[in-house]
Amino acid sequence: MDNSQMKRGIVIKDDWPGYSLDLFTYPEHYHEDIESVYIPHGVIMNRTERLARYIMDDFGDSNIMVLCVLKGGYKFCADLVEFIKVLGCNSSRYLETRVEFIRLKSYLNDQSTEDLHIVGSRDLSFLRGKSVLIVEAIVDTGKTMKALLQHVETFEPKMVKVAGLLVKRVPNMAESLTDYVGFEIPNRFVVGYALDYNEYFRDLNHICVISKTGKMKYKV
Ligand code: HPA
Ligand code: MG
Repeated sequence: MDNSQMKRGIVIKDDWPGYSLDLFTYPEHYHEDIESVYIPHGVIMNRTERLARYIMDDFGDSNIMVLCVLKGGYKFCADLVEFIKVLGCNSSRYLETRVEFIRLKSYLNDQSTEDLHIVGSRDLSFLRGKSVLIVEAIVDTGKTMKALLQHVETFEPKMVKVAGLLVKRVPNMAESLTDYVGFEIPNRFVVGYALDYNEYFRDLNHICVISKTGKMKYKV
């Protein structure tokens, strides 16, 4: 596989049912609310470490301004930055990272709503001339990401790359927007590793498929 293909993510096929819950540990209170373990935490971590290496290679000697998209991106971002730090300590090139947070909201229940709200964004003018890495948990249609990229570009950064832990195979998927993809997944609603369903399931380490019971229980 060439390098650009590897950055496109590990492809999870449509018929992948996930692992049986009995094979892993998870918080007992979610017992009835999840159907299967879709991506185990350890696999997420290994893939994230690999993405950190691609990022180190591409950013060269420029320091990285990390823009973490909250709330879903917080775990991926924290782990990714940690791996970039460790890799730097173990080589002669240490990339300085600075992390800023931006909050977007576009989902209610498991449906995307039309409008994008940038909720927690202060002035981003410090991005001018900098190498920026946007870190997002999940990219599907790319509408949110496109809007965010446009917003970031107005501050004239030197370069902008996007790391997405998950890219969803939806009609008109925005593949080319995400430079570093962890996993390409089918069009299913997943939770865990900071991904939520109405604010629930962020405290689950694995990425899991929510059950019918879970969807009903936490519906708003
Ligand atoms: N899970 C959680 N949040 C999301 C998803 C998902 O599958 N897609 C977009 N936001
Ligand atoms: Mg959400």
